[in-house]
Amino acid sequence: MNKPAPQRASPIGFSGETSQSADIDAVFELSACNSLPQLDAAKAKYIGKNGIITLAMKGLSELAIENRKTHGIELNRQRDSVEKTYAARRQVLEHIKQYDSLAAEAIDVTLPGRGRGQGGIHPVMKTWQRVEEIFASIGFDVADGPEIEADWFNFTALNNPPNHPARSMQDTFYVDMNGTDGLPLLLRTHTSPMQVRYARMHAADVMAQGKPIKVIAPGRTYRVDSDATHSPMFHQVEGLWIAEDISFADLKGVYTDFLRRFFETNELQVRFRPSYFPFTEPSAEIDMKFESGPLKGKWLEISGSGQVHPSVVKNFGLDPEKYIGFAFGSGLERLTMLRYGIGDLRLFFEGDLRFLKQFA
Ligand code: PHE
Repeated sequence: MNKPAPQRASPIGFSGETSQSADIDAVFELSACNSLPQLDAAKAKYIGKNGIITLAMKGLSELAIENRKTHGIELNRQRDSVEKTYAARRQVLEHIKQYDSLAAEAIDVTLPGRGRGQGGIHPVMKTWQRVEEIFASIGFDVADGPEIEADWFNFTALNNPPNHPARSMQDTFYVDMNGTDGLPLLLRTHTSPMQVRYARMHAADVMAQGKPIKVIAPGRTYRVDSDATHSPMFHQVEGLWIAEDISFADLKGVYTDFLRRFFETNELQVRFRPSYFPFTEPSAEIDMKFESGPLKGKWLEISGSGQVHPSVVKNFGLDPEKYIGFAFGSGLERLTMLRYGIGDLRLFFEGDLRFLKQFA
């Protein structure tokens, strides 16, 4: 249908016999156009300012009077016919254009989806939850405290005054702002400040109602330390049990029970190895040894602990002559590594799904 329209000076034979009408050529030509610019050009060729039909109309005045009317009517009809064809083809081309752009934007709904991976709980968080469950079941309250801590709570109240050499055991990050004690705030180096915060909040109940302080405080802690077994951010769980008669034997019983439930085995031994912390006296590292499984036979350090130092009990707002008890602080990463046999602590913080998926 792409037949080129024959060029001719006049659409009709002015001599009288109307041979082939220009509008027939125009209908063929316009109907064959495949784009709007092409269609507009074809329209101009016939009925534009210098179009074939337009020029013929201008030439009517040269005709003999008696022929003008019939030729005029014929030329009008031809022009109308071209205009109709133009409008019809234009509509078709616009539809095609719209369809093409819709098709280009279309989404292929038959493509397979990207999938929605199922999330999972981080292994350290799993340990956190487990620790809370186990201690809650033996009557421990669960408390939460600030990670940006005052010097007094993190060190001084724990029998670790400014310039005390034991402070260097826990090098920390300082915040560029002073606390109410006039010393720079810091990122807590352990969860032990929660001993002081929680005990001070509950000291009145202890004295009035004889209610023991029995709490764990899990949370994030920070130290200037980074290698395969240390991360600048890590997690601890603090434990504190204070009443009139809580002894090291209670610590041993509670902690051994906790470990057996946490590792889901009774085949483990616990020992207390003398150590030093400013806030406990005596102090001990708690070690454990599996009697079966891949870690069988090796003593593993698992927690710091001790009997709360009398000066610290005093800072709780309690009489150290009357109240006594124990505290411990255990690393949640360490517990997690031993439970799952993970060798490098940094795996917890790299966010590698190949590692994390194993715990989902
Ligand atoms: N806070 C100590 C540490 O982070 C652990 C600890 C807690 C020791 C409670 C004794 C009692 O190393």
